[in-house]
Amino acid sequence: MGYTTAFVGKGGVGKTTLAAQLVRFLVARKKGSVLAVDADPNNNLHLALGISAPRTIGEVREELASDTLSNPAISKERIVEYKLQELLVEEKGFSLLAMGRPEGQGCYCYVNHILRRYLDILQNDFSYVVIDTEAGMEHLSRRTTKDVDLMLIVSQPTESSLLAVERIASLARKLPISVKAMAVILNMVTPPLSEKITERIKSISLEIVSVVPYDSRISGFGIADENENICPPLESLFEGIASKKRF
Ligand SMILES: Nc1ncnc2c1ncn2[C@@H]1O[C@H](COP(=O)(O)OP(=O)(O)O)[C@@H](O)[C@H]1O
Ligand SMILES: [Mg+2]
Repeated sequence: MGYTTAFVGKGGVGKTTLAAQLVRFLVARKKGSVLAVDADPNNNLHLALGISAPRTIGEVREELASDTLSNPAISKERIVEYKLQELLVEEKGFSLLAMGRPEGQGCYCYVNHILRRYLDILQNDFSYVVIDTEAGMEHLSRRTTKDVDLMLIVSQPTESSLLAVERIASLARKLPISVKAMAVILNMVTPPLSEKITERIKSISLEIVSVVPYDSRISGFGIADENENICPPLESLFEGIASKKRF
């Protein structure tokens, strides 16, 4: 089973940036096979990873549900499998799968059933799965983010961002999803970090596993080519993930 890390948090806190950094780290250090999952409907993980836009599961789901692909000679399941294989972009030493938009109106039960099974199988094919999620908690309730080894809640040292941390942690603890560990990354921090913030996170029984400074080289996705060193505060966290640590 691939070790699955999900980046969650409020919009604009750095989920995509940090997820891309983790993917690059695992690839550059040759830690094993990596599946990057873009679970944000406004998919942009590919931009942070420097590859072109992939087709999405959402697009394939629409095609399948509209039944334009019916062919009596081939089972629908085979068509789905074939289509999904096409979706997986393999470039620069990792694979990328983009979820795209969630379903609209109509009957998607059958298609969703196959999709979920495919995703479960896919997770097992890789040493690491890195999921970049959309802002907020929708994906938790929709259960696109389930069976996660480590949920990293990314937050800036701001009130609204910390409020989101509290809400996400509380919801993740309530929902019937399997999250083995949860921790906080504080991002875009201009030192000194106030003790109030660390105390507040401690008070909801979460550990801060990394404090990443505001770094103008990171803004605008102008980050690290593969050879560039990883930001030091992320290094030990990423090494822990690479060793499939139980946080
Ligand atoms: N540590 C950092 N220092 C400076 N800019 C950052 C840092 N982390 C992220 N950013 C920038 O902040 C913006 C939002 O980051 P992004 O990863 O898209 O957030 P999210 O995915 O949570 O919406 C991007 O322009 C990104 O380059
Ligand atoms: Mg994002």
